[in-house]
Order: sequence, then C-alpha cells, then structure tokens
Amino acid sequence: MTIKHVAPTKKIHSFHPPQRTLLGPGPSEINPRVMAAMSLPAIGYLDPVFVEMMEELKLLLRYTYQTSNALTFPVSGPGSVGMEYCFVNLVSPGDKVIVMRNGVFGGRMIENVQRAGGVAVVVEDAWGEPCDPEKLEDALKANPDARVVAFVHAETSTGVQSDAKSLVALAHKHGALTIVDAVTSLAGTPVMVDEWNIDAVYSASQKCLSCTPGLSPVSFSDRVVEHVKARKDKIHSWFMDMNLLLGYWGETTRTYHHTAPTNSLYALHEALLLIKEEGLENSWARHHRHHLALMAGLEAMGLRYLVKEGARLPQMNAVHIPEAVREREAEVRKTLLTEFNLEIGAGLGPLAGKIWRIGIMGYSCKPENVMLCLSALGSVLSDMGLPIQVGEAEAAAHHAYAQMHAQEAKRKVASIR
Ligand SMILES: Cc1ncc(COP(=O)(O)O)c(C=O)c1O
Repeated sequence: MTIKHVAPTKKIHSFHPPQRTLLGPGPSEINPRVMAAMSLPAIGYLDPVFVEMMEELKLLLRYTYQTSNALTFPVSGPGSVGMEYCFVNLVSPGDKVIVMRNGVFGGRMIENVQRAGGVAVVVEDAWGEPCDPEKLEDALKANPDARVVAFVHAETSTGVQSDAKSLVALAHKHGALTIVDAVTSLAGTPVMVDEWNIDAVYSASQKCLSCTPGLSPVSFSDRVVEHVKARKDKIHSWFMDMNLLLGYWGETTRTYHHTAPTNSLYALHEALLLIKEEGLENSWARHHRHHLALMAGLEAMGLRYLVKEGARLPQMNAVHIPEAVREREAEVRKTLLTEFNLEIGAGLGPLAGKIWRIGIMGYSCKPENVMLCLSALGSVLSDMGLPIQVGEAEAAAHHAYAQMHAQEAKRKVASIR
C-alpha cells in the first residue's frame, strides 16, 4: 500500500474563523448558549434522553410556528431541503401548482414544482413588490383545477413581505392547499400557522432562529398529512418521503430513518428555548424596533429603500446603492468585511450591483450592530467621496431609539394609572 499524503507542501492547522458581525441575508450570529449546546457530548439519535429532547423540540417549534400541528419537526438539511420536502410530498405528477414569484426564491419553487412532475402556473410580481392577492385570485379563477398555491412570505432577495393570511384565504376559497416559505420570516415577524390556516410551511435554522445552518423546521396540517397519506403514487424522494420520516419524528414510533444530526438538534433546541424565554411577541417587537433605528440612520445617509413602506421586512433591509459607487459596490462590502469585520449582503439576479441587503436577524438584531453598521458604512462611503457627514446616521438612529424609549415609558405609565 502506498499512502497518499495531504498536499505535502501545505501545512494545515486547526481552523479559527474570525469573529464577524453578520448583517447579511443569513446566516445570523449565534448566541453563545446555542454554541455551547452544540458542543455537548454526542449521544445516539435513539437514546431515550435524546428522544425526550426531540419531544421538547417539537413543542418549542409548535410555539414558534403558533400551531398545534402534530407533524412539526426539523428536517435534516438547509431551508432548500425543507422547500423540497413540501413540494415532493404535496405535488404529484400532473398536479397544477400556482407559484407566486417576486424574487429568487419564488423562482426556486417553480423548479421544485417542475422537478416533482407538476405543472407550474406562474404569477409574476416585480422584484421588491409583495405578491398581489388580486393576481392570485385571477389565476385561481383561470385555473380551477389548481391543487396547490405556493409563495414566499418573506422574500430575502428583496426584503419584501407578502400578506400570507390573505393569500392563504384566497387559495382555500378556491379549494387549493398552500405551501408557504417562512425561511426569513419565522421569529422575525408573525407567522401564525393555525390562525392563517397555512397547510404546509418550512423555514431554516440560520435566519431569525439564529441557530447553526443545516436544519429546516417544517409543519404540515392534518389536512396535508391526510392528503399525502392518500397519494396512490410513490413519493419521488426516498429521503423526504413524509410517510417514512414519520417513523422517526412521528408521535408513536422512533425507528431509524437516517442518522439525525444530534448536536445540531441540541443547538436548535437551545435557540428555540431562547425565543420562548424572550417571548415571540417580544422577538417580533425587537426586530421592528431595531429596523426603525437602522432605517432612520440609512435614510439620514441618503440611502433609499427598495421596498415601499408597509411591505418592508424589519429583518431584511434592502437599499439602493448610490449611483456614484455602483461600479465599486463590491469594494464597499470588501472594506466593511476586512476593516470592520462586518458582513452585509449583495443584490441577487436583476438586483445584483443595484442593492445592498442588510439583515438584522435573531441574535444579530441588537443596537450595537445597528450602530456599527451605520458607522462603518458611513465612513466607507464618505471615504469614497459621497457627501456623507460621518456621525449623522448614528445621530438619526439614536434619535429614533430615544423616541421609541420615550413612547414606551409613556405606555408603561399609562398602564399603571
Ligand atoms: C426565502 C428563502 N427560501 C429558501 C432559502 C433556502 O435556504 P437555505 O439556504 O438554508 O437552503 C433561503 C435562503 O436564503 C431563503 O431566503
């Protein structure tokens, strides 16, 4: 036997990533409690202690999704796997699916429909606009045989939020089931699965849940479970077949399906516990509060939002890149990363080179990050010759915070009287 050595000329050391401030479109920063949970001793995925933790994890997920759906669990894999899990289980070959597309991820839904053998009817909205309920109603009237309606609640590529409640109600009025992408919305803005009657929903661990990437919480209503169980054809994917996954994540059985990522699941348990301790409403309010301060600062710098007021996601702020630095926008992001250890996101698809995406998600959503972002971006843009008064953005954010604190204090006094 001859042993082949690892790149003999390169000395490989342990990996030590730098400490970054993560204000991109995800992943977000991770609470040290979550990292500590991840490094706890490994145990088997059928160990009774682990099984007990799985039950708590399901309870915590139901709380986060505001649902009593029994089939609520984390699929092993990133958000894209959760997306695929929904489509392969709900869509049979030949099924007509209405997909609302207003950004990158609606486009991926179309791919999923087609790969599951379905027929996608695409309803387009401009990038940066929410999905239009009127267009959905027209499509449902024109396609009475549509079985499923799918849309992205929070389009990460543009920072727009769609009215999930109305879209789901319309789909149901016309007898269609719904698949909702809540990857960026969950825990950042309300996702009321039971109240809105969402049928199938998926999210991802690395956005407002602030866990390590690689898990995709999903929830199916009983109606969907019945629909999938009644399918006569074999579900196209073995790994994502709901009926087989039920053997491991279901209510009554715990049998081997695949080796679950145990330590990542400890981490998700801790991340969800943090959300429960904070309270969902407080988590939504925190995202809203820091968004208002960030927005005040960005606008004071002269930056304009892509999305109109009222449809903006607090956790995903997309701003137009000033004309004068468009050619050098990658340099701006590189300077932020190398000099300030700060990551912000670039635009995607037709918005590449036109917008920056500033995410304040989960553990990243805190005042020190808002202030650092405004200070760092202001100084880089000022150095590049933009007419920006360094410090003005921070002052505007400070003013916004002060106003919110004053309103909050008034509210507290009024509630005591
Ligand atoms: C709205 C949306 N859907 C789906 C995905 C895919 O998730 P992942 O990258 O975890 O596979 C993303 C990722 O950014 C997203 O923002």
